[in-house]
Amino acid sequence: MYLQQELTLPCGVKLQNRIAKSAMSENMAPGHHAPTNTLIHVYKRWTDGGSGLLLTGNIMIDRKAIGEPGNVVVEDKTHFALLQQWASVVKDTGVHLWPQINHPGRQAIGAINKEVVAPSAVRTNVQIMSSLFKQPRALTEIEIFDIIERFGNTALILKEAGFTGVQIHGAHGYLVSQFLSPLVNQRKDKWGGSLENRARFVLEVYRNIRKKVGNAFPVGIKINSADFQRGGFTEEESMEVVKLLGAEGMDLIEVSGGTYEQPAMTGAGLKKSTQEREAYFLDYVQKVRNLLSTPLMLTGGFRTVATMERALSEGALDVVGIARPFTLYPDLPNRIFAGELTYLDIPIPQMGLKRLDASGAVDVKWHEIQIHRLGKGKKPKTNLSAYSVIGHNLSVMMKNLLLGK
Ligand SMILES: Cc1cc2nc3c(=O)[nH]c(=O)nc-3n(C[C@H](O)[C@H](O)[C@H](O)COP(=O)(O)O)c2cc1C
Repeated sequence: MYLQQELTLPCGVKLQNRIAKSAMSENMAPGHHAPTNTLIHVYKRWTDGGSGLLLTGNIMIDRKAIGEPGNVVVEDKTHFALLQQWASVVKDTGVHLWPQINHPGRQAIGAINKEVVAPSAVRTNVQIMSSLFKQPRALTEIEIFDIIERFGNTALILKEAGFTGVQIHGAHGYLVSQFLSPLVNQRKDKWGGSLENRARFVLEVYRNIRKKVGNAFPVGIKINSADFQRGGFTEEESMEVVKLLGAEGMDLIEVSGGTYEQPAMTGAGLKKSTQEREAYFLDYVQKVRNLLSTPLMLTGGFRTVATMERALSEGALDVVGIARPFTLYPDLPNRIFAGELTYLDIPIPQMGLKRLDASGAVDVKWHEIQIHRLGKGKKPKTNLSAYSVIGHNLSVMMKNLLLGK
């Protein structure tokens, strides 16, 4: 199978096959934002599943900028022993484990952050629960340099803890993606305006990480094919940025799309024909393939092994990214390789409330609950109702309140 072939990355490191578990925020670290035993246990189960690459849910680089209450934060070595324990689950297995590192910028829940920052003071405007997001303050240039330095420091700490690579979260409307977006980045200095200026932040983040971790350590990025918003980051601009990142020596570029305002990453709001065709951003990747030789990973909608194999055989991409199916089939790579699994059957939980369902929020939280079940050693619960998601969220909120978050 094409899925079983090895892949050598530009840094020289090999992935044992072409299946990657894409990042899913586990939300399992309330309180001190440290990895927990249940979180580590989930990764043990995913490692046993035989992937080439596991990307962690997004880890914050700054305790003052937290996307969700249960995010892990790595800004110093406070929880180093737990990070080592987490990284050790892949030791001698051949599976790669790369933390995804992130700064949420304006997409940070207001109640858990004293202040919210962004390239410019432009507020997140989501369809539902927009009051969750505060008015952000524009970053000063000194703060921009501090964040670039933090990305590098966090990457180095994770390397020292034993993780086998890192991924920059440059997609889905978080800070890196905010800098790229002309809608959110309205700066008049060298960090805003032209595409060259808007891309400066991601390039500096990458260069600083590379300087700290060296040339032999894999560094990847997840980036949007587009923001799918009028006046936002376009497909043409994304291609230019991807070319720049490739030329800098990026090891793996994962393609996704959308933001909280337009959640295309999980297929929400995309045309029915695109959703049914499976790989939502395949057209974009096919175009990008001719522009650079950097390994490309595509995530969003892959459900049949036939489509994955076809995409790899046509050469449009090098790694198949899969997220939600991993919560119901934690060992999906091994089962696919054994010929036991050809279709990943994933329900799309719906409340029957148009705006809420279109936001994709219930779908994401439904899968988060399944991840929590995996962490407790339980089986996934495929018949979990969308309504249970609301109950679960309320109980998590209460727990966080009791923990002082
Ligand atoms: C529970 C959940 C949490 C997610 N958290 C992240 C995240 O932390 N970082 C990220 O880049 N994408 C995140 N995503 C998006 C996925 O990585 C992926 O892009 C999306 O689910 C589409 O892929 P799929 O169709 O294979 O699920 C999350 C998705 C889900 C369902």
